[in-house]
Amino acid sequence: MLDDAAFRLLRARQRDGFALAREFYGDPAIFERERQRIFARQWLFAGHVSLIPEPGDYFLHRIGGESVIVCRDNDGAVRAFFNVCRHRGSRICLEASGTVASFVCPYHAWAYGLDGALNAARQMPDDFERADYGLYKCHVGVAEGLIFLNLDEDPSVDFAAIGAEVAAVTRPHRFDSARVAARRNYPVEANWKLVIENFNECYHCPSAHPEYRQVNAYVRAVGDGRPEQVRVFEEMDAAWRQRTEAMGHRVDCAVLPPELPDQFHLAYRQVIQTGFDSLTEDGRPAAPLMGELSAFDGGETVVHVGPFFSLSAANDYACLISFEPQDVSTTNMTLTWLVDREAREGEDLDTERMCWMWDVTTRQDQVLIENNQRGLESIRYSPGPYSVLESFTRQFVDWYLRQMR
Ligand code: FES
Ligand code: FE
Repeated sequence: MLDDAAFRLLRARQRDGFALAREFYGDPAIFERERQRIFARQWLFAGHVSLIPEPGDYFLHRIGGESVIVCRDNDGAVRAFFNVCRHRGSRICLEASGTVASFVCPYHAWAYGLDGALNAARQMPDDFERADYGLYKCHVGVAEGLIFLNLDEDPSVDFAAIGAEVAAVTRPHRFDSARVAARRNYPVEANWKLVIENFNECYHCPSAHPEYRQVNAYVRAVGDGRPEQVRVFEEMDAAWRQRTEAMGHRVDCAVLPPELPDQFHLAYRQVIQTGFDSLTEDGRPAAPLMGELSAFDGGETVVHVGPFFSLSAANDYACLISFEPQDVSTTNMTLTWLVDREAREGEDLDTERMCWMWDVTTRQDQVLIENNQRGLESIRYSPGPYSVLESFTRQFVDWYLRQMR
């Protein structure tokens, strides 16, 4: 792992308001430092509760070289354990998901209960205490059916405040009783920071995302940055806020401090564009109203939990977007679409129309990000300055450097 002195040298070369140096995007020693200082400390989105409805159901969540078993125990609670045997360290679960009565290690068959306790280990010495060798637990936070993990032994930030903010803004959608209508994985051959830098700026939207821009008035305003476009959006958004408040729906605004806290989270709502009920190609809904909503309000609900998770919800569907660093040069983007549990394909649900915007946009981003990675591997790469439209990306980079300090 990169030691403090080596990091300080690299940090000293970093110019304020400029992209990061090449080493940050390819050096395994930096990735190792990130595993300890970032991946192990953030609350990370893993999946929706409907993926594990019954006791014994599990799925694996892989991030930063770790594999975590997320399961439903016999009492119906969501639990998570490091997928590491307490005997000699083998991975225990090898399938990405499944249903088990207990977790049996494929190596020497130590068997663990759904609560992580070691229940069976053959031919151990007399002084062996099974109680000392349960699976290492991972902290779990569940908000509105969204499962978050924290790999730290003792998380510095309690999940309660995050959960409360997510619940306050998204409650009418009833994500907790929703179901997964689609789940797609978009692997990227690039360092995870390029993925997050890209996601958090819309400087590239006018040229790279015509579909995304066509749907979102906000994207036209912040992507183009022209004062008249910004004014058009502000007027549209102000009118929407008045209408939406009159309907009794929330209209929370985005408020981020200039310096992002170690574990930042943010939830807000904004107009899609006049005449649009949903985030679809023509603005018509692709699914029935979610949860307790009784009318379309034409708004989008956005939630960010740290840099690795974002959620975008129209009134009829939500897209959960998760970034999962795998190794220094591979990152998974996982998109999960939630709909009301009563939605039926072919009747009131059109999955392809629902997935269209985020699918086409994410596939475009895959290409952009991989081009970015290849280019900066050149010996002639040198970090360039961020534009005024990349302020959130710049905030992310500042946050990143503070976490790594
Ligand atoms: Fe798991 Fe030996 S490593 S039982
Ligand atoms: Fe993009």
